[in-house]
Amino acid sequence: MPAPADLDAFCRAILQRGDLASKLSPPRCPVPPSEEIPAAEPPPSRPARDPGLTMIGGAAPLPRPGQLADPAQRAICLARFAHHELMAVELFAWALLRWPAVPRDLRKGWLAALADEQIHCQLYLDRLEALGSRLEEHPQSDYFWKQVPGIEASPHGPRAFLAALGLTLEQANLDFTLVYRDAFRSAGDEASAEVFERVHADEIRHVALAARWLMRLSPEHGDDTVGAYEESVPYPMAAARAKGRRFSPGARREAGLDAAFIEHVRTARSSQELAGAGRPPGEDS
Ligand SMILES: [Fe+2]
Ligand SMILES: [Fe+2]
Repeated sequence: MPAPADLDAFCRAILQRGDLASKLSPPRCPVPPSEEIPAAEPPPSRPARDPGLTMIGGAAPLPRPGQLADPAQRAICLARFAHHELMAVELFAWALLRWPAVPRDLRKGWLAALADEQIHCQLYLDRLEALGSRLEEHPQSDYFWKQVPGIEASPHGPRAFLAALGLTLEQANLDFTLVYRDAFRSAGDEASAEVFERVHADEIRHVALAARWLMRLSPEHGDDTVGAYEESVPYPMAAARAKGRRFSPGARREAGLDAAFIEHVRTARSSQELAGAGRPPGEDS
């Protein structure tokens, strides 16, 4: 396959080619100034996926940290994290095609994050291979792609995307990467622990990008991050889903989130919890 000639073709290749090599091929195209972007077709609402990468609804719970002494449980875990990264790659490509008129600096930020997600995916895949497994041997949950209809239907456009991906899913990953870094380390798998550590550091920058641009695109909210987030975040994404079981305020401060927003997320309860069902938020809910 020839390398895509420009940003539009690069993003379309990620969404329209079903194989991993095409989706993980790094960008080698400049980000054009907004006025040079021709009117183009909207992006597909689901990505092409080759056999073995086809997405299904829902997912079994992630293996618990205490189960990771078993290499098979570690492989399940690495496959899940690799697939989250693959979906993030695709969603940044989707956003770049969906909102070509956002400021060029935001498109540059999205493309840089996309390239990071490609690296994250490959790092997890390499660890998976070291354990003798492949992504195609595992079921792929469509958890991130399931949010696209809600983002599409939102009147808040790119702000809905920033709130859903950056400030909910990626914010939650700040916690998950630390929990699983420590769990893999305890299980004696230091090479995987280092991958979680690397991903965590990059996700801090991705959350920071989303927070910065949500506020720039929401001048009516001043510095009220909670107000801007709550207005833009598309259901069923919500503050209760922007965290893992072990809440890390330090990572959020590093991402530049303000104290009020951090506290808002820390204390957020899902509708199930409020109804007394006691079910924690997350991918499995
Ligand atoms: Fe990532
Ligand atoms: Fe990310």
